[in-house]
Amino acid sequence: MIGNILILLVVIGLVVLFGWLTYRAVRARKLWVKIVGGLGAGLLTLILAAAAFFGAKGMAATYFPDAPDAPDLTVAGTPEQVARGEYLVNIACVGCHSQVGPDGNPTGQHPLNGGWNIAEAEGFGFIGDMVTENLTPGGKLADYSDGELFRVLRYSIDQQGHELGMMSFLPYREISNEDTEAIIAYLRSLPPVPTNGITGDKMNFLGAVMSGAGLFGEAPPPAPAVVTAPPQGVNAEYGKYVATFGECRGCHGPDATGAPATSVSPAIPNPRPFVSELTLEQFTAVMRSGVKPDGQPFPETMPWQNASKMNDDDLAALYAYLTMEP
Ligand code: HEC
Ligand code: HEC
Repeated sequence: MIGNILILLVVIGLVVLFGWLTYRAVRARKLWVKIVGGLGAGLLTLILAAAAFFGAKGMAATYFPDAPDAPDLTVAGTPEQVARGEYLVNIACVGCHSQVGPDGNPTGQHPLNGGWNIAEAEGFGFIGDMVTENLTPGGKLADYSDGELFRVLRYSIDQQGHELGMMSFLPYREISNEDTEAIIAYLRSLPPVPTNGITGDKMNFLGAVMSGAGLFGEAPPPAPAVVTAPPQGVNAEYGKYVATFGECRGCHGPDATGAPATSVSPAIPNPRPFVSELTLEQFTAVMRSGVKPDGQPFPETMPWQNASKMNDDDLAALYAYLTMEP
């Protein structure tokens, strides 16, 4: 943060310098100095001014977001909550927060001590590092109150009040209060495991400029303080909720009808035409095996493993949701 603020100050200084040089060039006596100097310095001034403007905007949104206070919350940690949390975490969070293997990629296995640099792995390391956190009580979460952990999941705000880059793209703001508390209960119940290396965000100035310019996609609407899930059932309404904690809507768009490309991710197809061709049995088989009926496996960019851990009812609800009119 301090580094980026210093860079911002330098860029603002350069805007002033080149602005002054432009002014001098335009007032010069020689015509060629007026034209070449004026255009060159003028153009540089504009580019630097845009970088300063968007960089400041991106930094304001990240370091000083409009963050609500952490709620005053104590999670009871009943066995039911821990069991529900285990189900949700092993669908939604293991894909990114599991232990990393020797190649630096997540293994999908416990312990959930993180350490995956998703920015580097997914080809957007040019905006800085984004390393998954240790979710066991052996890491920084031991010092988080239940309310602060709730604020991470609902609003993507860390203990310092900064916005969490990757978490803010995930659809967890729509997970019910009850399920969010279950997730917290389960994370608290895990055996503590130490953190490997440096975790968290380290966005650089380019990342701030791109974020300020809106190149990472639209910011989601503000999250409400209370979210209730529809009643559990094998129907499209609950299926939409399954597509939320299953993260399908995070990639395939809020209505699971596909999402356009952004500067950090490729376009994601609409899954509905494909799913509508399948029977429920075929859909279940595809989601549990990661292989389509024609024998084509899903590529690594499609984390079918999330769905493979869902129970039959949740998969059936997901099927109902993906085969209805969006
Ligand atoms: C797509 C990958 C991904 C998934 C899925 C994911 N996370 Fe994260 N998470 C990250 C990254 C990367 C960070 C580091 C900060 C950032 O960029 O958001 C992080 C940070 C965190 C933090 C630390 C917050 C802080 O204050 O520093 C917590 C807690 C967390 N995640 C919980 C979860 C839980 C619980 C789930 C499942 C419900 C989950 N995450 C799913 C990528 C992910
Ligand atoms: C991290 C992003 C991501 C998440 C999360 C995700 N998908 Fe996908 N999905 C993709 C991508 C990328 C493709 C295209 C893969 C390809 O090129 O074949 C895809 C393809 C699909 C397809 C095949 C579409 C076709 O026409 O071949 C289906 C079905 C699908 N996803 C369903 C789901 C469901 C259900 C979930 C939630 C359990 C989900 N996806 C979660 C990224 C994602």
